[in-house]
Amino acid sequence: MAHLGSIIFALFSLPFLVTSQDQPLSWEDDQFYECLLHEPTIFPRQLGSLFYTQSAQSYWPILQSTLRNRRFNSSDASKPRYIITPRNSDHIRGAVMCSKRFNLDLRVRSGGHDYEGLSYLDRSGPFVLLDLGQFRKIDVNVTEETAWVEAGASLGEVYYNIANKSGTLAFPSGLCRSVGVGGHISGGGQGTLMRKYGLAADNVIDALIVKANSTLLDRKGMGEDVFWAIRGGGAASFGVVVSWKLKLVHVPPKVTVFTVKRTLEQGATKLIEKWQKIINQLPKDLFIRILIVMGKDKRGMPTVEAIFESLYQGKIYQLMPIMKKHFPELNLKAEDCKELTWIESALYFDDGYKRGESVPDLLNRHLNEKPKFFKAKSDFVTKPISREGLKTIWDTFMHLGGEQRLLILVPYGGRLSEISEHETAFPHRAGTLFNLLYYTTWRKRGQQEARNNLEWIKRLYNVVGNYIPKPRTAYLNYRDLDLGKDLSGNASYSKAAATWGHMYFKHNFKKLAEVKYRFDPENYFRNEQSIPPFRNEQSIPPQCPQ
Ligand SMILES: Cc1cc2nc3c(=O)[nH]c(=O)nc-3n(C[C@H](O)[C@H](O)[C@H](O)COP(=O)(O)OP(=O)(O)OC[C@H]3O[C@@H](n4cnc5c(N)ncnc54)[C@H](O)[C@@H]3O)c2cc1C
Ligand SMILES: *[C@@H]1O[C@H](CO)[C@@H](O)[C@H](O)[C@H]1NC(C)=O
Ligand SMILES: *[C@@H]1O[C@H](CO)[C@@H](O)[C@H](O)[C@H]1NC(C)=O
Ligand SMILES: *[C@@H]1O[C@H](CO)[C@@H](O)[C@H](O)[C@H]1NC(C)=O
Ligand SMILES: *[C@@H]1O[C@H](CO)[C@@H](O)[C@H](O)[C@H]1NC(C)=O
Ligand SMILES: *[C@@H]1O[C@H](CO)[C@@H](O)[C@H](O)[C@H]1NC(C)=O
Repeated sequence: MAHLGSIIFALFSLPFLVTSQDQPLSWEDDQFYECLLHEPTIFPRQLGSLFYTQSAQSYWPILQSTLRNRRFNSSDASKPRYIITPRNSDHIRGAVMCSKRFNLDLRVRSGGHDYEGLSYLDRSGPFVLLDLGQFRKIDVNVTEETAWVEAGASLGEVYYNIANKSGTLAFPSGLCRSVGVGGHISGGGQGTLMRKYGLAADNVIDALIVKANSTLLDRKGMGEDVFWAIRGGGAASFGVVVSWKLKLVHVPPKVTVFTVKRTLEQGATKLIEKWQKIINQLPKDLFIRILIVMGKDKRGMPTVEAIFESLYQGKIYQLMPIMKKHFPELNLKAEDCKELTWIESALYFDDGYKRGESVPDLLNRHLNEKPKFFKAKSDFVTKPISREGLKTIWDTFMHLGGEQRLLILVPYGGRLSEISEHETAFPHRAGTLFNLLYYTTWRKRGQQEARNNLEWIKRLYNVVGNYIPKPRTAYLNYRDLDLGKDLSGNASYSKAAATWGHMYFKHNFKKLAEVKYRFDPENYFRNEQSIPPFRNEQSIPPQCPQ
């Protein structure tokens, strides 16, 4: 039964209304709808395409639109009671205000890449999904060398829009075009320019956020501590990031890329040993990551293959002597290298050329392929893994795994080592050799398939643990609920500090929890691994009233 208010509204706004509802709203749903309508800043005629209940035709397509991990696409996965797709910051404010008023949790989704699906699942109770897929304006200012980007924008859209205005400006963030800036930047954001310019989070100069009381605040309004926290601490614990102001960086008109593959037979182990030793000393302009995959040896037998993928901010003739000096063992040839514009390199690292794509395809927000089932884990490695360690790791890597397994070693050093651990909430700085990602994907639904893959990744993770220093750490953007979780979102401070809190944030965890206490004391913004509010008035003086 439709509520009188909605009937009046429907009549009133008839010429404009694109209704999203295929059935009349229940009384309960109608109350929520009323709240959104009466949020004075939302124009009623827009609401039809902003708000979806489960009976709306568009509910399922929108829910599925950025569901990137099929593990969480099952009938028993939690489903949002409502989906709201805001077009402006007032809609976001309304969503926060009404969800809170109706005791509904709120999950915010930008690109949907969260490894554990936390942006669209809530295991603790009824919730609203705030899906930012329609909220992604990008405004590049070439004179100022900045860009304001709305939180739902994808990395591909950001890169494309920058390159559209300038051939020598760029932004240092991740390699996958479909990743959203909402989650990515707030968790750090590593990519091919990081050794020169740091993480994505290191290049944010302002932000807009809606806090639990539904006010919209900029950097000045939120205060330096909150601005510190949402650069590396994950924004999901603090509010809804509406947009970021990015500091753009300089790239030369042409950069050089290469991809060189070496199997175990071809000396991959020695090369990785050497890579670990030199990686921190390489010039900042040079980024060489390693992908470890299953390959084939000369006889066609399965073996481990190391893929060296590189971006150098200069030309081939400049790169060759550097490689000769630091890494002659790789035996890089000029023919292995290609000179591209920076935007072409973005397509290159996202495998666009393999699929015959061109630069405008970076605007495609879909994944390169149909979503698969996947699980990931991570480490930050601070001491080279010994040859013996590498050999043991290869054995485990090869012997148990599922169809597609992958390790990615992302080099640190350079600019990353110059930024103090306390400058932003992201603490893995000087002393970090590389970030290590463990990743396994599978295509077949089924318990056995899932169990095999989950077992493989756990086993490999445990084996690596024998060869790297403790305590182990992890990258928030490679979220891993195995590290500890609280389903209600009310983790105890000490329990979280002893597990994932320290692993993701090291000594910044305490400050994050104190900032959380001051910004969201009721813990409205929470999830299975959110920062718990922690009251410790001695260590930080209360903020001045704004
Ligand atoms: C295929 C793939 C490639 C990747 N490549 C890289 C890479 O090259 N480098 C790298 O560093 N990482 C990479 N990642 C990891 C990626 O950075 C993280 O998964 C990141 O958190 C994704 O952000 P998102 O907005 O797409 O995800 P979402 O799932 O939308 O969000 C992730 C988290 O952030 C929260 N969140 C999202 N938007 C907002 C907002 N506006 N306000 C507050 N909270 C918000 C969500 O609630 C959730 O907790 C990759 C992931 C995948 C799946
Ligand atoms: C999720 O599952 C449904 C039903 O099996 C299917 O139609 C849909 O394509 C799946 N979506 C994704 C993103 O895997
Ligand atoms: C870019 O920034 C400059 C300096 O702040 C400002 O004067 C100019 O109006 C901006 N340009 C655009 C197109 O917004
Ligand atoms: C910039 O974008 C416009 C509009 O989409 C397009 O026509 C133009 O070709 C682009 N220019 C460059 C250099 O990418
Ligand atoms: C919400 O919080 C901000 C600052 O954090 C404060 O200035 C404002 O008055 C609060 N608004 C309401 C309605 O409580
Ligand atoms: C978690 O905390 C919230 C906010 O304080 C509270 O409303 C909720 O009841 C708590 N849930 C549990 C299971 O403790």
